[in-house]
Amino acid sequence: MAGRYKSDLTMADVTLKAAWMNRRQIMAGAGAAALGAIAGPAMAGLGAKKTGYGQGLEPNTWEEITSYNNFYEFGTGKDDPVRNAGAMKTDPWSVKIDGLVDRPGEYSMGDILAGVTLEERIYRLRCVEAWSMVVPWVGFELADLLNRVGVKPSAKYVAFETAYLPEVMPGLSYPIVSWPYTEGLRLDEAMHPLTILATGIYDEPMPNQNGAPIRLVVPWKYGYKSIKSITRISLVESEPPTAWNGYSASEYGFYSNVNPNRDHPRWSQASERRIGGGLFSKKIPTLMFNGYEKEVAHLYEGMDLIKYH
Ligand code: MTE
Repeated sequence: MAGRYKSDLTMADVTLKAAWMNRRQIMAGAGAAALGAIAGPAMAGLGAKKTGYGQGLEPNTWEEITSYNNFYEFGTGKDDPVRNAGAMKTDPWSVKIDGLVDRPGEYSMGDILAGVTLEERIYRLRCVEAWSMVVPWVGFELADLLNRVGVKPSAKYVAFETAYLPEVMPGLSYPIVSWPYTEGLRLDEAMHPLTILATGIYDEPMPNQNGAPIRLVVPWKYGYKSIKSITRISLVESEPPTAWNGYSASEYGFYSNVNPNRDHPRWSQASERRIGGGLFSKKIPTLMFNGYEKEVAHLYEGMDLIKYH
């Protein structure tokens, strides 16, 4: 398949970190197990298939990935999501899939994951705010799900919606973007093998602050396209409205492909701060399409990427 690559080094690296994580989890869970609690999936691990996506990347630590977040429904501070998102109930959870599909419906997480082989995908995450991380996601290709529900030929775009839960999401009281948070992709972007729905990190279930139980990950686009805690996926004919584009179209385009040559009106996008190492976090050059140019540039052939930013 186009876009597959291998890096044994990175996989070995992640395996070590995953093993370390699991040991810690098992030790933390030992007390609960002694009290008769059932060792659930959080201790067993998700058993994701290790695959070759990784490209020599050094993943951030579990602590970094799960304590420095953007999830404005829970507050705008980087540590608000980890503090507040625990109140969101993610089981049971269902996703409404509607619009131009053969089998619309309200799909439970069980339905969505039935027959799915979860896979590890180590991707760069580049936030539009000019910081970045490397995250070992666990998930499956969005194309798998779209093919299962059957996309009608008239569908050209996919629209996504996050849960709207005022009782547990203090951020909804502030009209930052128009809630619920929405995002969208062109159908060919949605069907690209790099585009995944993620349900975990480091072989552990997705923490709430990172978008449990299911979120989008589109690694060549700014992080805000990777919408969290999805409750609705709609196949539509025309470009859907999206949260940040609605806030300011000149700052946040519909495409939002990572592009070091197109600055945000208020700051440069030429470089990024890689989270980690505390004060010593490194400033590194930002890569075109976040380093996925070989895999995705063909989607935008002939398009003016400054105009369609
Ligand atoms: N999804 C929702 N629903 N709400 C948000 O505020 N923030 C986005 C994106 N998805 C956001 C969201 C932004 S700006 C980024 S950079 C990523 O989530 C951050 O993902 P992470 O916290 O898992 O690193």
